[in-house]
Amino acid sequence: MLKKPITYDFNNVLSERIQSPAGIRIDEIESYGKRAQDIHAFLTERRKRGELPFYELPYKKEEIETVKKTASSLKRNMNDRFENLLVIGIGGSSLGGLALTRALLHPFHNLLDSEARKVPRLFFAENIDPDEIKGLFDILDPERTAVNIISKSGTTAEPMANFLLFQKFMTEKIGEANFRKQVVATTDSSKGTMRKVAGELGIKTLPIPAGVGGRFSVLTAVGLFPAAVAGIDIDSLLEGAAYMDKKCSKPELLKNPAYLNGVIHYHLHTRRGVNMAVLMPYSSGLALLSDWYRQLLAESLGKKYGLSGEVVYAGQTPIKAVGAIDQHSQIQLYREGPFDKIITVLSVASFSNFLNIPSLYEHDGLSYLGGHTLNELINAEKEATLLALFQSGRPSIEITLPEVNPYTVGQLFYLYEVQTVFSGYLYGVESLDQPGVEAGKQYTYGMLGRKGFEEKKKEAESFPERDRRFIT
Ligand code: PA5
Repeated sequence: MLKKPITYDFNNVLSERIQSPAGIRIDEIESYGKRAQDIHAFLTERRKRGELPFYELPYKKEEIETVKKTASSLKRNMNDRFENLLVIGIGGSSLGGLALTRALLHPFHNLLDSEARKVPRLFFAENIDPDEIKGLFDILDPERTAVNIISKSGTTAEPMANFLLFQKFMTEKIGEANFRKQVVATTDSSKGTMRKVAGELGIKTLPIPAGVGGRFSVLTAVGLFPAAVAGIDIDSLLEGAAYMDKKCSKPELLKNPAYLNGVIHYHLHTRRGVNMAVLMPYSSGLALLSDWYRQLLAESLGKKYGLSGEVVYAGQTPIKAVGAIDQHSQIQLYREGPFDKIITVLSVASFSNFLNIPSLYEHDGLSYLGGHTLNELINAEKEATLLALFQSGRPSIEITLPEVNPYTVGQLFYLYEVQTVFSGYLYGVESLDQPGVEAGKQYTYGMLGRKGFEEKKKEAESFPERDRRFIT
């Protein structure tokens, strides 16, 4: 594995280079130097006081050992017992694991035969779509399936409903005692409903450290356990994160990619009306990393109120795109639509496989492909997109991974997490909470008759009737 740094290139946001109403001058970036240092000092203080525990996740030796041991006991059982690991969780309790495993496993992991795979197949039950969950009942043999229920609180409707369904489904087939042996619960280290349920069931648990919210939890057991079961080198993942910690611990703005990226996005948003941030990996494996990124940005920075209670309506809208696919879908808009987007391209310098494109035809418009590799083609398309964006004055950032491996992916996760808390202070909002998520949850509780949410039920029922004239 190539343990090299990822690189951060912001040339193509600079007004000195791109002729654009959405560029930023280098002196404008530099003018944030003092503010960045102040925020840095503040974050460092909070980190020392233990208020930002996600920063320490790469160094939690004991917890990491527990994850590895639990994962290997499951793997040891695999040949005679487990063919599948079913991960039940949602949002921050699922997206990190999904991103990590999609990036670092064989692209068709579950379809490999067990000899090639050597580790269980992985399934994520995230949504509460009855057809999808029934679909999982159809294909998962309870005797050969281990379950990892992930819920920090244990009261989130979606994973808990799915857990109850799987508990019943599996218990009916294999009995209560076996079910208990096949479940691992990843939950709050000391409190919450899931911890109580786990205690009552007497099942194995893995802790989510106190103070680490869902979207900052990919480097806890939330992401590490499914990754370790799937044979991913979690030590290198954390080593990559620790490397990025060093890089992002520099107070100087121009040396710190997390702060730089935060400043560039913030400035373009608040001074140039660039209110959307696109993440466009040129790699199918990194596509789900964009889902993780969307949640991180949206829930952390999308806030109505500032730190002093004033109305701010903060946050850019994060957008997921995938290269080269979205060249045939989104790029038209990105190049010629409103100047309201900054596009971050994730490049992969070296893929694991080389595929030569065969020269089979002499036809014009086709023969040029022969003799090149697919690797050359995807990277040429990435360069062409960057150039096309540049020509139309659209700001873009390029982050290059020398290769997609645990070390580089660990760097990316950490970079974006630091950028997010830093940006919270630029916007003057609390990046670790998500009050806007609560309203919908509470109405659901009310509608389903959860005790204590009777008022919410009434509120939901008083929602103005829909006018039939507007339904066709
Ligand atoms: O980032 C977050 O805090 C949320 O997305 C949560 O992770 C999500 O709602 C799941 O919560 P829980 O782990 O309590 O079930």
